[in-house]
Amino acid sequence: MTAHTAIKNTRKADHAIHAQFTSRFSPRGFTEKTLTEAQLLSLFEAARWAPSASNNQPWRFAYGLRGDAAFGKIVEGLVPFNRTWAEKAAALVVVASRGTVEKDGVETPNAWAQFDAGTAWGYFALQAHHAGLVAHAMGGFDAGILAKNLKLPEGYMLHAVVAVGEHGDIDNLPEALQAREAPNDRLPLAKTVAHGGFV
Ligand SMILES: Cc1cc2nc3c(=O)[nH]c(=O)nc-3n(C[C@H](O)[C@H](O)[C@H](O)COP(=O)(O)O)c2cc1C
Repeated sequence: MTAHTAIKNTRKADHAIHAQFTSRFSPRGFTEKTLTEAQLLSLFEAARWAPSASNNQPWRFAYGLRGDAAFGKIVEGLVPFNRTWAEKAAALVVVASRGTVEKDGVETPNAWAQFDAGTAWGYFALQAHHAGLVAHAMGGFDAGILAKNLKLPEGYMLHAVVAVGEHGDIDNLPEALQAREAPNDRLPLAKTVAHGGFV
């Protein structure tokens, strides 16, 4: 039994929902296990079916598998804190979006590109959870380094790097991170939802 099986999940939904929403969380510990391309492609396949404005599908993903050159290029773009734990992940996925769509031969701004890329990442994360994997998004990266290392095309925007892999034993993490290796809570709906206007 690995220590993470003992992690306590105290999350409680206030209204009836599927258990996937409270059982998924973003740990930082990974096992040494690698991921096959097929495993990873199944997560991208889930993201592929996300809804998007005019079905434009503006999300773009670039990935590396631990040990390959692409993985190194992505690690290089992480801020030091994230690098400490995320470089042990089996795969690193960079999430971007194409900020324009072609309309009558003209590139036109897509106001929903970021919104849609966020939906796709959500689908990706839930599919990872269903597959018994963890997917941990990071905003802590150097966009300049990643854009250069991954040859980000003009007009694309970087959103996050996602560490993917099998959840590892908590004992392998530095003490400070062990304390944070548990599902956190959420604001009550009353702080984010209101009938007839915004809170
Ligand atoms: C866009 C985005 C950026 C994030 N950036 C970081 C990060 O740089 N480093 C980190 O350790 N966690 C990061 N996180 C993880 C969040 O802190 C985490 O998702 C949040 O606390 C909710 O916890 P949960 O995912 O375990 O439910 C990020 C998450 C998202 C969605």
